Amino acid sequence: MENDYSDITFRQLDLSDADDFMEWYSDEKVSEFCSWDTFTSKQAAMQYVADEVIPHPWHKAICLKNKPIGSILVTPFSGNDIFRAELGYVLGFNYWGKGIATTAVKMAAAAIFVEWPHLDRLEAVVAVENLGSQRVLEKAGFTREGVLRKYYRLKGKPKNAVIFSLLSTDPQVTT
Ligand SMILES: CC(C)(COP(=O)(O)OP(=O)(O)OC[C@H]1O[C@@H](n2cnc3c(N)ncnc32)[C@H](O)[C@@H]1OP(=O)(O)O)[C@@H](O)C(=O)NCCC(=O)NCCS
Repeated sequence: MENDYSDITFRQLDLSDADDFMEWYSDEKVSEFCSWDTFTSKQAAMQYVADEVIPHPWHKAICLKNKPIGSILVTPFSGNDIFRAELGYVLGFNYWGKGIATTAVKMAAAAIFVEWPHLDRLEAVVAVENLGSQRVLEKAGFTREGVLRKYYRLKGKPKNAVIFSLLSTDPQVTT
């Protein structure tokens, strides 16, 4: 039977999900544009999940029929910048190209402006070469704001990035 790709839910990622999260954490095709390096052992990935994912204020597993197939996070800025937060997401390669990330981004954006009512702005920073991720943000209603030159280091190399945003007052959020 074909999967129903509209049946997407979020939940906390757990160490018992290791076999599932290794599907994306151990895949070079997936990590190319991610801040983390591909994990070569399950133990190292579990340590990362224990240290970085579980304690994070908003980092969820993207699940299909409760099976984690990727993850999505919203990281709040601090101090005077508490009114904005940064979105990130990753999906196992077998699930690419089916509209799942776009659905997950729309779900996360809808949830975060309710859960964090002080938030003015959700932003996402994407490597200029990561055209699939840019398309996800466009489809989810984010506004492309421009290119940030040599904005961050990816795998040790300076990267130009495209910055996108969604505001709490944007019509697609308020309607
Ligand atoms: C980016 C990622 C989340 C996209 O997930 P996905 O579920 O395949 O995304 P969707 O199916 O919702 O949409 C992808 C869109 O990008 C398009 N796309 C994919 N690769 C593309 C490319 N190389 N050039 C142009 N468009 C591309 C698809 O055609 C689709 O657009 P369409 O619906 O108009 O045809 C997934 O590829 C991934 O996990 N990549 C690795 C991690 C990553 O890069 N995360 C983002 C860091 S900013």
